[in-house]
Amino acid sequence: MHVLVVGGSGLVGSNVVTQARERGFAVDATYHADPTEDATIELDVCDADRVHEVVTNADPDAVVHTAAFHAVDDCESERDRAWAVNAGGTRTVAAAADAVGAHLITLSTDYVFGGDPAAAPFSEADPVNPANYYAETKYAGEVAARSAAEAAVLRPSVVYGTGGTNFVTWALGELEAGEEIGIVDDQVSAPTYAPDLARACLDVVERGLTGTYHATGPVSVSRYEFTVTLAAVFGFDTDLVSAISTEELGQAAPRPADSTLDSSRLSDAIDSRFRGPREGFDAMRNKRG
Ligand SMILES: NC(=O)c1ccc[n+]([C@@H]2O[C@H](COP(=O)([O-])OP(=O)(O)OC[C@H]3O[C@@H](n4cnc5c(N)ncnc54)[C@H](OP(=O)(O)O)[C@@H]3O)[C@@H](O)[C@H]2O)c1
Repeated sequence: MHVLVVGGSGLVGSNVVTQARERGFAVDATYHADPTEDATIELDVCDADRVHEVVTNADPDAVVHTAAFHAVDDCESERDRAWAVNAGGTRTVAAAADAVGAHLITLSTDYVFGGDPAAAPFSEADPVNPANYYAETKYAGEVAARSAAEAAVLRPSVVYGTGGTNFVTWALGELEAGEEIGIVDDQVSAPTYAPDLARACLDVVERGLTGTYHATGPVSVSRYEFTVTLAAVFGFDTDLVSAISTEELGQAAPRPADSTLDSSRLSDAIDSRFRGPREGFDAMRNKRG
């Protein structure tokens, strides 16, 4: 099996690269701004000629597309860039994958469900209602991927793990510095541990699955509860974490009150197990998968 990882320098992409090698796959991986030891092919998904060149040269069996502009609040003010990367870029990657007959695995978001929180947990059959512009661009990417290629779309939530900047690495930095942090207690979802998502992507590759799959952990928590658990597992004073409201935080992009996903379709289709926050944080702390 030969896999091309688009966004191989990122949190999910780097985990996909490592685990794909462990499975004995041949791997190529791209970066955009920051090359890594593993991700050495420069690629901007907005450059269609370059995307086709990279995918044609690699000629993989599968493309795992993890690249995105996912600074959710910045997507409100940088709409052209958000659309170009998340919608246009995904369409281009899908077309290029299709041209070489490769299976495409692409990642979306739980934020496509911005509607009635009482309807959570959401299944793949539920109608979307993007919560913000980021989610609109990601949903457009889903549609483009499905129409252009044999594609599987996985929807994770609050992806966390070691490496790069994500909510958890940010919170750990603040706690380590002894800073008090106010975290919203009225945004609920089921966070996804990045190594589990990478494993699921590769299981989907091996089984040749197509279609839409929710890909989150099994535990639905508020961001505040998630962060208190993080502090506890890493031995920080949990009193450093206080609960605030979304209104107090004043984020530029609207967020869903509850975007918990039901990921049973994916767990039924593959053998992989997603960990909840405590297990995921334990694994991070012990620096094991
Ligand atoms: N993180 C979350 O909480 C979360 C939640 C739900 C869904 N997701 C989705 O999960 C996927 C993976 O996220 P992640 O956390 O792994 O993100 P990440 O760590 O920020 O990595 C993003 C990757 O995309 C690359 N990239 C950015 N702009 C690009 C462009 N114009 N052309 C090509 N590559 C570009 C980056 O390259 P450089 O590093 O070299 O710039 C990096 O390799 C994304 O589709 C995201 O929307 C994430």
